[in-house]
Amino acid sequence: MSSSLSAEHERHLVQVARDARLRAHAPYSHFAVGAALMDEQGRVHAGANIENAAYPQGLCAEAAALAHLVVAGGKRVVAAVVVGEGQQPVTPCGGCRQKLREFAGDELPVIVADGRAVRLRTSLGELLPHSFGPDHLGKRISR
Ligand code: THU
Repeated sequence: MSSSLSAEHERHLVQVARDARLRAHAPYSHFAVGAALMDEQGRVHAGANIENAAYPQGLCAEAAALAHLVVAGGKRVVAAVVVGEGQQPVTPCGGCRQKLREFAGDELPVIVADGRAVRLRTSLGELLPHSFGPDHLGKRISR
């Protein structure tokens, strides 16, 4: 189950992620991804993938957006949108699911879109079931 995200917020987040995707630095894969995250204060943080000539040093769009959220003082992710083009919906990679888990629980709505439409509405709990998180280390996180 995910918590609810209004249609208006969803539209806004999708637009921010589409705009961010246009700024991706993906000269190696040519696979541009954009992300938009809403924090607990309702602020929206964008990210795009940033590839590197030393391939493993590349950064995913979600990680770039998380960096913006943290530096802006955000503490929680309350909604996540990922935008990419492909036959299948461009869902967050495994590493990014875990990165999101640091700032959100099972209920986090995760929306996957492309340039035309929303392709998938899911939740972090569906994408990363039985996850390991801060609570396993005795860290209390506000939900
Ligand atoms: N990518 C993301 O930015 N987010 C994901 O969740 C999936 C993959 C990027 C990484 C790399 O720059 C490109 O997409 C191809 O894997």
